[in-house]
Amino acid sequence: MTSRLKLIAGLLALAPLAAFAQECPVEGDPLDLGDDAVSALYDCIEARMAEGYAANGDPVAAEYRSWQVTSTRPALAGPHGERFLQTFANGIAADQYLKFANEGVEMPAGSVLAKESFAVKDGKAVPGPLFIMTKLEAGEAPDAGDWLYAALMPNGKDMKIQQSFCAGCHLNWAAQDSLAYPMEDVRLTSQ
Ligand code: HEC
Repeated sequence: MTSRLKLIAGLLALAPLAAFAQECPVEGDPLDLGDDAVSALYDCIEARMAEGYAANGDPVAAEYRSWQVTSTRPALAGPHGERFLQTFANGIAADQYLKFANEGVEMPAGSVLAKESFAVKDGKAVPGPLFIMTKLEAGEAPDAGDWLYAALMPNGKDMKIQQSFCAGCHLNWAAQDSLAYPMEDVRLTSQ
């Protein structure tokens, strides 16, 4: 057990009384955290993240945690602002999404992907936005690949975003129906 992990494990033991006020400390460079340390960090922050997203009555925030998780653990990726990311797929999206196919992908209308995020600031994990993509009917949002983009702040309020900002990057993955998928080393492979 690394000293970092011991520290996290020790703090987790104190957790039950203070689940909400609880801090989730990170020693050193978050990029150096191994699988176990990231999972421990996620254990520390997940309840706070999920309750925050759901605090304003958003229907996706209320149910995404019952959807299919798509990675073995959250992973740190650059494009969404140096945050640890973990994506959930709803029942309509899950089968196709989990193929992580890179050609000819056409997600069914009604597919929803919700991506949790948390960042490390001043040595502590802090919740970031919940990013959401919803597949519309063909022709409903032609400039955005027929996806509707949305994001919730950590307190569950809607973030003001521009479709063109999100779509502008996601359309780089046109052959994957605008999906970028989790980092390869954490993709949940079919059992
Ligand atoms: C600069 C490029 C870029 C921009 C801008 C961007 N994304 Fe992403 N997005 C990515 C990448 C890369 C991933 C895959 C990251 C990962 O999980 O490791 C991703 C993943 C996602 C996912 C999970 C589904 C998938 O593609 O696998 C959602 C949902 C999402 N983004 C929503 C949004 C929303 C909403 C916005 C606008 C507020 C946005 N994105 C802006 C690059 C971008």
